[in-house]
Amino acid sequence: MFAIENLRMTFVAPGNVVVNAVDGISLGIGTGKLITLLGPSGCGKTTTLRCLAGLERPESGKIVIADQTVCDTENGLFVPPSDRGIGMVFQSYAIWPHMTVFENVAFPLRVARDRKYSANEIKERVLRSLDMVRMSGYETRPATQLSGGQQQRLAFARGLVREPQILLLDEPLSNLDAKLREQMRVELKQLQTRLGITTVYVTHDQSEALALSDEIAVFNFGKIIQRGTPQEIYRQPKSQFVADFIGSANFIKGRVKDVQVADHTTLVETGHGLFRCIFGQAVTAGQDVLVSARPEDLMLSDKPPGDGFNAFTGKISHRVFLGEVVDYLVDAGDGEVRIRSKPEAEFQIGQVVHIGVSPQKCVALPS
Ligand SMILES: Nc1ncnc2c1ncn2[C@@H]1O[C@H](COP(=O)(O)OP(=O)(O)OP(=O)(O)O)[C@@H](O)[C@H]1O
Ligand SMILES: [Mg+2]
Repeated sequence: MFAIENLRMTFVAPGNVVVNAVDGISLGIGTGKLITLLGPSGCGKTTTLRCLAGLERPESGKIVIADQTVCDTENGLFVPPSDRGIGMVFQSYAIWPHMTVFENVAFPLRVARDRKYSANEIKERVLRSLDMVRMSGYETRPATQLSGGQQQRLAFARGLVREPQILLLDEPLSNLDAKLREQMRVELKQLQTRLGITTVYVTHDQSEALALSDEIAVFNFGKIIQRGTPQEIYRQPKSQFVADFIGSANFIKGRVKDVQVADHTTLVETGHGLFRCIFGQAVTAGQDVLVSARPEDLMLSDKPPGDGFNAFTGKISHRVFLGEVVDYLVDAGDGEVRIRSKPEAEFQIGQVVHIGVSPQKCVALPS
């Protein structure tokens, strides 16, 4: 549905500091899919989105939206935002306080430069958009008299009113409190799937990315570090940065003993003993690595785990009851590990425990 090729954008900040905001990014996704640009603050997510929208002129690169080249710096081609068939919703929803709900949604139609909409068509489209976001009946309400969630839905309705080919969303839920954010996340996903609209979603919230995306592109310093489905990114991170940014992970220092190409595993010598691991990026014997293991994948028991598990022992040093789960810190000789357990079996501080983890849940990463 869209393709970005080798996009570059630099800014010159005060003091002549050159910032490589977007540093050679290539990206694309099929029709009806939702891709998330995920990464820490300042990594170039918004700049990429603004280039896609035509709000920023990239230094170099090519952008194609639905078979139409909208930007190609090689030959100076640049299509303005209004002619790109995109809808946008930003973090600050930019709702006009002096307008009613109806007028807010109608605005993009009234200012459209590429075509004129009749009064009837405007009414029809506004009502349809409001219906999509379950805001029918609010047409005459001043926009200021809406709750946070309603304002957010209004912003979506406005983003959709021109029936865009692509919806660009820049941290659209970040102004909402945690509970509402989770609720709107579900609503947004339902709306996006129902409309089958191709969506680019920007966030630095990893759980939002995991919950919403068909694909995630992890950004850092203006580059895409890893791209894949939420499962791939979570289960097979290729670097410590990705493992750490998405969820939380224990990193256990080790050295590769041997690599079994046949089943794609490696044996790693660690301070907790020998670990069999999978790897996302090729490793070689003798290489220093970090074994990444998620707290929820480590199993606590008062007995040693069965064959086939990586196993070690430790002593519970800290315990936090969180209702549905219990978090433990376990002193395992060569450093502490974090373990997240179901509360069925409880372990006490000072108790000596056995820890087991499946090789499939241990990823050897270049250190
Ligand atoms: N107009 C500008 N002038 C100078 N520097 C800019 C400008 N816009 C962005 N930058 C810089 O470019 C880099 C990327 O910015 P961008 O807004 O794309 O980050 P982001 O990933 O969206 O971050 P956040 O999660 O904080 O929104 C940052 O270092 C930022 O300071
Ligand atoms: Mg941003």
